[in-house]
Amino acid sequence: MTPLFSISGTVIKGSQLGRKLGYPTANLDLPDASRFYHLTGVYAATVVLEEEIYPGMANIGFRPTLDQLSFTVEVNIFDFNKDIYGQEITIRFLERIRDEIRFTSMEELVTQMAKDETEIRKILSLALKPNTDSQ
Ligand SMILES: Cc1cc2nc3c(=O)[nH]c(=O)nc-3n(C[C@H](O)[C@H](O)[C@H](O)COP(=O)(O)O)c2cc1C
Repeated sequence: MTPLFSISGTVIKGSQLGRKLGYPTANLDLPDASRFYHLTGVYAATVVLEEEIYPGMANIGFRPTLDQLSFTVEVNIFDFNKDIYGQEITIRFLERIRDEIRFTSMEELVTQMAKDETEIRKILSLALKPNTDSQ
């Protein structure tokens, strides 16, 4: 599956809230973040890290549910719990599944992220099957 676009950067510490929510994310250090404002949304993604490829779900946006708005490009890598702060990664954005939403509680956000995970795992299991990639 050809990515829609890719973004590379160094992983920095986010607010560490994701960990508490059950969805830790790798946040990219982006000196010129405004370049990516128009790409806001939630995506099925893969992550290239040290020549390995991992499946995950990514968010580009302002995180309107949080008290403090801050623009981030971040990815939750599935079934992964290594500390990769300071490492260089490339996020490949494969399919956009929805807009960012302002939820009225963190519980609603977590419920939605669980639905995103189910949907994106399905998308990726189809997209990443061996030999189904178009040449
Ligand atoms: C797949 C995915 C979907 C997300 N969707 C939303 C959303 O719709 N609205 C929102 O405010 N934040 C959304 N977020 C951002 C979360 O609020 C954020 O990951 C969380 O607050 C943890 O941030 P931290 O990594 O800085 O700790 C999403 C994040 C991911 C990974």
